[in-house]
Amino acid sequence: MSTLHIIEHPLIEHKLSLMRDKETGTKDFKELLNEIAMLMGYEVTRDLPLEDKVIETPICKMTAKKISGKKLAIVPILRAGLGMVDGLTRLVPVAKVGFIGLYRDPTTHKPVEYYCKLPEDIDKRIVIVADPMLATGGSAVDAVTMLKKRGCNNIKLMNLVVAPEGVKAFREAHPDVDIYAAALDDKLNENAYIVPGLGDAGDRIFGTK
Ligand code: PRP
Ligand code: URA
Repeated sequence: MSTLHIIEHPLIEHKLSLMRDKETGTKDFKELLNEIAMLMGYEVTRDLPLEDKVIETPICKMTAKKISGKKLAIVPILRAGLGMVDGLTRLVPVAKVGFIGLYRDPTTHKPVEYYCKLPEDIDKRIVIVADPMLATGGSAVDAVTMLKKRGCNNIKLMNLVVAPEGVKAFREAHPDVDIYAAALDDKLNENAYIVPGLGDAGDRIFGTK
């Protein structure tokens, strides 16, 4: 079974509390999300494989560590996942970025696919799927299924806030994919929103409500 990693750090907790506050506006919300994504990215990339390379410093030759072999791809789930891309690519500027477009049907809460554009060599990369919210888990389950169909076998899911219901559904569907999050919240409400959560992440990032 996969592991749920809750990344605990005072800076992440403080910034997340600011994001949860309904008085926080679009500009600050977006900046905070990217800042947290960068801080979380440090943990999510902790096990990237390294290899020895001979380099030359101004003083002498040395054997130094560099990220090896498999390279990264960041795949945000549109729209809200876009809010994490800048923070992550600041950490790993050479990472390729793919996009999966899914929205939740307002009545059934089931994800509907509307876009998919991925790097050609996605199957050879370590893939970080980024989406701030894991509510019922439907969107993340479908996004990872799409990636597996394209041959990806090294995937991590990176969320900000997760609900127990979504964690359970995701781990059952994809027991091989670890989840990284900043907070495990209490439950879902009758509209499948996370409680206490932070509201509709996409709307708060893009100012659509
Ligand atoms: C939100 C969020 C996730 C999804 C989570 O997207 O960004 O993708 O809901 O819910 P789930 O775990 O129940 O699938 P939404 O469908 O609101 O689309 P948006 O990002 O375009 O606003
Ligand atoms: N999508 C969101 O943006 N927020 C939630 O709480 C649940 C789904």
